[in-house]
Amino acid sequence: MIITTASFKGGVAKTTTAIHLAAFFQTRGKTLLIDGDPNRSATRWAERGSQQGGLSFKVVGVNQAARYSTGIEHFVIDTEARAEEEDLKEIVDGCDLLVLPTTPDTLSIDALIQTVELLQALGTDNYRILLTRVPPNPRKEGEEAREFLTDAGFPLFKGKIREAVAFQKAANEGVMVKDVSDRRAGLAWQEYCAIGQEIVG
Ligand SMILES: Nc1ncnc2c1ncn2[C@@H]1O[C@H](COP(=O)(O)OP(=O)(O)OP(=O)(O)O)[C@@H](O)[C@H]1O
Ligand SMILES: [Mg+2]
Repeated sequence: MIITTASFKGGVAKTTTAIHLAAFFQTRGKTLLIDGDPNRSATRWAERGSQQGGLSFKVVGVNQAARYSTGIEHFVIDTEARAEEEDLKEIVDGCDLLVLPTTPDTLSIDALIQTVELLQALGTDNYRILLTRVPPNPRKEGEEAREFLTDAGFPLFKGKIREAVAFQKAANEGVMVKDVSDRRAGLAWQEYCAIGQEIVG
């Protein structure tokens, strides 16, 4: 399985999603995370945690990918902050499923609509939208975004990822969210596992 995370907008949790989907897939078979972002966020995440157990899978740059691919069952590819229009064709052709994370705010949703329109123009349907950083109840942004995107006929994951500081702690410590000490860490990890389960069916 090759899963790629991408978006036309920065900061929508592409890297956080790539890290945790790779962690999920690693529980099923050897997984490699390919860091396709020149900012190297995933690589630096792995480096920060390398002293304390860190991540359960290896993170490599695009230039190293071929060499580290031996014996790998699942690949997760993280892409740069803002994909260019012309990159999208290559990105979607290069994976089995393109995961489009979006936060439930207007600017992200606008960027997402542009992305989906381009994917539709490319005639592809191997992509799915993931609502991330969804604010807790009683705020309704998450549900409103889901309703809007569903009405537009866009393919969404049933699950969502809630806003949780545990993810920021995980990024800071260079570990997976399940390994941070935070009372929401378990739930946060379960949310990504549920997305992984949706992918594998
Ligand atoms: N569910 C969440 N709850 C709270 N914070 C989150 C969540 N997911 C991601 N974040 C935080 O949001 C910020 C952006 O996340 P991330 O780096 O994964 O996004 P990105 O799309 O990869 O960004 P870039 O476009 O810069 O590559 C980070 O500070 C991250 O810790
Ligand atoms: Mg990133």
